[in-house]
Amino acid sequence: MEESLRPGFAGSPSNALPAALRAALAERLDGLARKELRTRAMRLSEAYRARQPSAGTIRDETDALAYALSRLPATYAAIAAVLGRLRDEQTDMAPLRLLDAGSGTGAASWAASAVWPEIAQITMLDRSRVFLDLAAALAASSGRAALTGADHIEADLTRLPEPLPGADLVVVAYALTELADTALPVVAESLWSRVTPTGALALVEPGAPRDHIRLMRVRDRLIALGARIVAPCPHQADCPITGDDWCHFSARLPRSRDHMFLKDGVVPFEDEKYAYLVARRVGDPAGNRIISPVRVAKPGAMARICGPAGINETITLRRDKPAFDTLRRKDWGDAVALPRATPEEIA
Ligand SMILES: C[S@@+](CC[C@H](N)C(=O)[O-])C[C@H]1O[C@@H](n2cnc3c(N)ncnc32)[C@H](O)[C@@H]1O
Repeated sequence: MEESLRPGFAGSPSNALPAALRAALAERLDGLARKELRTRAMRLSEAYRARQPSAGTIRDETDALAYALSRLPATYAAIAAVLGRLRDEQTDMAPLRLLDAGSGTGAASWAASAVWPEIAQITMLDRSRVFLDLAAALAASSGRAALTGADHIEADLTRLPEPLPGADLVVVAYALTELADTALPVVAESLWSRVTPTGALALVEPGAPRDHIRLMRVRDRLIALGARIVAPCPHQADCPITGDDWCHFSARLPRSRDHMFLKDGVVPFEDEKYAYLVARRVGDPAGNRIISPVRVAKPGAMARICGPAGINETITLRRDKPAFDTLRRKDWGDAVALPRATPEEIA
């Protein structure tokens, strides 16, 4: 069967680092040997693969810059994809105050500011002084008052400082993955308690089986606390994904020359796999969720779709033009409401 596999990504150019952040990074990188950065970046990725937390590997600004060059473009792309969808799906959201928890170099702060330029107050919280200092230095050149004036709090997610102001948007990106299993419910609960009544808690994690399982535990905890999961899940019931499968999505990002050198890249783009959850006190999921790339083939357009009744391999036939057009224009991760073709129609 002739089949074209679409790249399956939230493919907007806004997944690329903002020009001001690229320029601020380039300024800090000026004069630093790329070979040294590459050695540090390789050490970092080995440490992440071995599940060692950032604390042991980010010892000075050069380490933090190696992270910013090798990982920040990808974490930014995933966060921007999640927040872009959140803005499109939860149209009542108008966050003014952001808590970027486990901020690292501030990927979520930059992404949220790009999605909601009206964000006026940003708090970056991390236990790494080195990361916070680089985040502050990068934000200083942003030209955005909220970023230049951000608060930087050195603190542990497992013991959030009091008082920590409430936020309309709390983002924890690629940080839960560094916590012990036992810490997850406590951290989820204390971050959730900081979310304002019309706000949202967005958790973005690597798109790996382990992180999916951990996010589902956090999901259970948040639902028990009265949260509504508005994305990606289209329902509040148990996750229907079982066995070796896991819920994840993909964001495509452009690679700079430095990024390609650091990561031995041969193509000028990278696909970052991520998993995520968004919890709110108000709002409903936007629809069923496409949880695979959309494939367009002879009979029609196909994708796996998660809905309240579980997961279905959905086919929209070419002869059913409106439904076919709807699905073929969608991407992996989009919300969709579609009637399904019956087996008799497909035959
Ligand atoms: C992989 S980095 C992700 C940084 C950033 N959010 C991003 O998406 O690029 C993980 C971050 O979580 C922070 N972190 C890990 N455990 C933490 C804890 N218990 N308390 C505060 N920050 C923590 C690390 O210092 C690091 O900055």
